[in-house]
Amino acid sequence: MKTIVIYNSQTGFTKRYAEWIAEAAGADCLALTDAKKKDLTAYEAIVFGSWACAGSISKISWFKGNIDKWAGKKLIAFCVGASPIDTPEIDMALKRNFNEPALKKVKTFYCPGGFRYEKMSTSSKFMMKIFIKTLNAKKNKTEEEQTMIKMISSSYDISDKKYIEPILQYLKR
Ligand SMILES: Cc1cc2nc3c(=O)[nH]c(=O)nc-3n(C[C@H](O)[C@H](O)[C@H](O)COP(=O)(O)O)c2cc1C
Repeated sequence: MKTIVIYNSQTGFTKRYAEWIAEAAGADCLALTDAKKKDLTAYEAIVFGSWACAGSISKISWFKGNIDKWAGKKLIAFCVGASPIDTPEIDMALKRNFNEPALKKVKTFYCPGGFRYEKMSTSSKFMMKIFIKTLNAKKNKTEEEQTMIKMISSSYDISDKKYIEPILQYLKR
């Protein structure tokens, strides 16, 4: 199946997942800015990956805007975030990015990434600073919130190649 993996990545985690998927699936791999200039008609499967930003998938509007044009193709969207794979809210958060008709056409996946503050834009760093400050200021923090503050206050990497397996399995089907 002729496949392309298109990624939008700020600090490198999504790019690395996209390259892992492309290599394992024998697919082409392009950054979103380059994919926008390319004719995608010949591809039978389109895999789009981008990072989680405040509960949304960054640049998902580009992917959603093309769903009708891509009728008949296998469509996959994967989201890379800082949350561990077993975070209960992930499934709902992923689905919130699509309406009902789109969900029937797109299969969604989540891959844990991490935080890489040294590669983050100034505005992203600022948003994270506000988020951590707000969480810190909260009275009666739950155990989860306390763990989260500790975790997201500095860079970490929880990415692993094993998380691409469900995507590869779905591509093979
Ligand atoms: C402003 C901002 C908001 C974020 N929101 C979320 C979020 O809602 N859920 C999550 O799991 N990760 C969130 N993250 C973490 C990123 O999704 C994570 O660092 C991801 O691995 C970045 O991927 P990239 O390296 O491809 O840019 C956020 C990061 C930033 C900077």
